Amino acid sequence: MDELLKIREEAIRRIKEASNLKDLNSVRVSYLGKKSPIQAAMKSMKTMKQEDRASFGKISNQVKQEIAKAIEEMKANLEEAEMNARLASERIDITLPSNVVPIGSLHPISVVKDELEELFLGMGYEVAEGPEVETDIFNFQYMNLPKGHPARDMQDTFYIDENTLMRTHTSPVQAHVMLEKEGKGPIKVICPGKVYRRDDDDATHSHQFAQCEGLVIDKNITMGDLKGTLEVFAKHMFGEKREIRLRPSYFPFTEPSVEVDISCMNCGGKGCNICKGTGWIEVLGAGMVNPHVLEMCGFDPEVYQGFAFGIGLERCAMLKYGMDNIRDFFNNDLRFLEQFSRKG
Ligand code: DAH
Repeated sequence: MDELLKIREEAIRRIKEASNLKDLNSVRVSYLGKKSPIQAAMKSMKTMKQEDRASFGKISNQVKQEIAKAIEEMKANLEEAEMNARLASERIDITLPSNVVPIGSLHPISVVKDELEELFLGMGYEVAEGPEVETDIFNFQYMNLPKGHPARDMQDTFYIDENTLMRTHTSPVQAHVMLEKEGKGPIKVICPGKVYRRDDDDATHSHQFAQCEGLVIDKNITMGDLKGTLEVFAKHMFGEKREIRLRPSYFPFTEPSVEVDISCMNCGGKGCNICKGTGWIEVLGAGMVNPHVLEMCGFDPEVYQGFAFGIGLERCAMLKYGMDNIRDFFNNDLRFLEQFSRKG
């Protein structure tokens, strides 16, 4: 009996001393396995008296159970401690500030161009492009501006040689698209891009700027279609409350031609310094495609009509963002450009 109690005491002590699961397992093998001292003690039962044997058996079973229970408890403790140690060692501090990757921002002209493309693509238009180095034929002659035409003076030109130049407007893309279509409509395109003029740079003039041409050719196209389209454009670009007004004008490639004003977004039409007291701001030129232009570009003016318009992108952006100096688009001052960064 004493032996058993001694074994128990020793087992419990060793269980408590076990500092990890491996040690605990070896304690379990030595006290509950086949070669354990309890097993050895039980062998001596054979030599005991009948009545001692029963109580010895009972106690040795009890001792075994107590040891098993103590091992289980210790195992649970050690497992938990091991898990906690692992959690602590593998802990990731997600509260650390991350490295900030600077994200660039779109140039305001790109913002306006994207907005226009999105609007017109939504109305079934396609986007067309043409060369910035253009021929005199496309830039002027197909646009009904033959050599010596006085209206050429409206667009002072950078010539590369007698017949090659930096395009002065995006209108020649109209001719490229029409010739490609070989007289078969319909056509619905917008043509955004850079244009060049020999202007002296100042707050509102730049020798390089961007335009977006629009061209629609189909049967039964009227001025009403042009007006409706430009109204959608004006409201989309400058706000739902905008109204438009068409004023007679002159462009060689359109007949009739109009200048298009929008009601002032600053004063709503009452008159302020932005609209110079008139309540209206001029934003673009437009008109019905001149039958002569249709003819030169392979379309039968008896069958097809069309409208065209030319939007100045810098002008749009300046009105939209309240800018007063066109140079801000080209100076590449990051403090200015960053204001157009994508938010959030
Ligand atoms: N090309 C003209 C310019 O640069 C703008 C323009 C006016 C384009 C009327 C058009 C239009 O298509 O119909 O001044």
